[in-house]
Amino acid sequence: MSDSEQTPAHISDKETRPAPTRRHLVAGALGAGIGALATETIHRMSPETHQETTKEQKVAPLQESRTSFYGARQAGIDTPAPAIGHFIAIDLNDDTDAQQLSRLLRILTDDAAQLTQGHAPIVDQEPELAETPASLTITFGFGEKIFEIANPRQKPPWLKPLPPFAQIDQLQERWSDGDLLIQICADDRMTVAHAQRMLLKDTRTFGTIRWVQEGFRHAYGSQKPGQTMRNLFGQVDGTVNPTTSDNSMEQVVWGKHPKTPAWEENGTSIVIRRIHMNLDTWDEADRIAREDAVGRKLSNGAPLTGEKEYDIPDLSATDHLGFNVIAPYAHIRRASPQEPQERILRRGYNYDLPVTDASGFSRHGETTGGISQSGLIFASYQSDPTQQFVPIQKRLAQLDMLNTWTVPIGSAVFAIPAGCQENGFIGENLFKPSQP
Ligand code: HEM
Repeated sequence: MSDSEQTPAHISDKETRPAPTRRHLVAGALGAGIGALATETIHRMSPETHQETTKEQKVAPLQESRTSFYGARQAGIDTPAPAIGHFIAIDLNDDTDAQQLSRLLRILTDDAAQLTQGHAPIVDQEPELAETPASLTITFGFGEKIFEIANPRQKPPWLKPLPPFAQIDQLQERWSDGDLLIQICADDRMTVAHAQRMLLKDTRTFGTIRWVQEGFRHAYGSQKPGQTMRNLFGQVDGTVNPTTSDNSMEQVVWGKHPKTPAWEENGTSIVIRRIHMNLDTWDEADRIAREDAVGRKLSNGAPLTGEKEYDIPDLSATDHLGFNVIAPYAHIRRASPQEPQERILRRGYNYDLPVTDASGFSRHGETTGGISQSGLIFASYQSDPTQQFVPIQKRLAQLDMLNTWTVPIGSAVFAIPAGCQENGFIGENLFKPSQP
């Protein structure tokens, strides 16, 4: 029996009583047919049982690391970024209607909620693989087609492919666009692999996989908590970012800025740029040239005008010859905001694919060959990509020394809907009658 068949169509009779979750409904169905087996299975997977087991044994840290799934906002954006991040785009079947779509979203929501808490979804055939939540977060994003099916009037005006950046783009369809995004992040690759398989089983009858981008940061425990990650150029990457310790995350990501209101309360957007990094030609640059390209030191990420990572760069400082210490083409000068709304949350992941077509050396501007297929899954979150992301990317396309070694090869934009409460589902607001 497929997941879609197991999920009842009558999911709207919740005026009088709380809507049953898919878990309850499937448990009921199983109970009627194969009672003993179902009872045993559910008992084994209940939260109480899980707690008892963990009390008896010495627990490994990642077995207890849970990030809440339910809430006003989806997790996986302003929560700390775990070591592994997979981004998956699904193309929905052409004939998908609103009822099928809401059913799919409910199934995905239920399963994501279970998995993030270290519980196996009801149809999980390898339930032991769900036992280590490892800070798992599962975040859903919607492409244009979801709005066209569910509620075209709700589609945010910015939800469309980015404008072309002709100077730098070498975009490939196999890394671009898509109808539904599933972002899966956790500190254990096993957890991610299992969650990915479970969720993709859910989508099987509703669409096809368009792309999967697998990324990583430093392993869990290899860095101090809160330490900024490094990318594969060896740079400290992520220093200047909004935070939850002041109001900046609210403004940048959740739309509490006069110029960038959120498309829906507690919703936001993600731009995913897959950027190839040519490590072969990067190897040819010496340390001074590398630091000059970005405007920061490789040792600790401090600006060239400072000593410590979080020192504020002095963009007006000049050397004894009168040249800017942070060069006119330096990445941080070009990326820093020219208007107050030009800020984004960067939460990227490195990628490093097996090399199948190694040619020894990959030349400038090439995206294949060499002994590495490496880069950045550049994930940027902001309430309005056209106001926040696009002006930065335009400036960088015009002039940025880093372009010498980097090439964007994929691009996608998704709206990230609000979170939901238990018994609800991600995206449910789209299926409510629109306000006049
Ligand atoms: C492979 C490509 C890229 C690499 C290796 C890279 C690397 C870096 C590094 C090392 C920094 C300095 C430390 C920090 O604040 O994180 C930085 C800053 C920054 N980058 Fe990038 N970056 C890349 C692409 C991009 C893109 C595509 C954008 C946006 C369109 C972007 C936007 C920014 C911003 C906004 C900052 C902070 C600037 C400031 O100081 O205000 N970067 N990047």
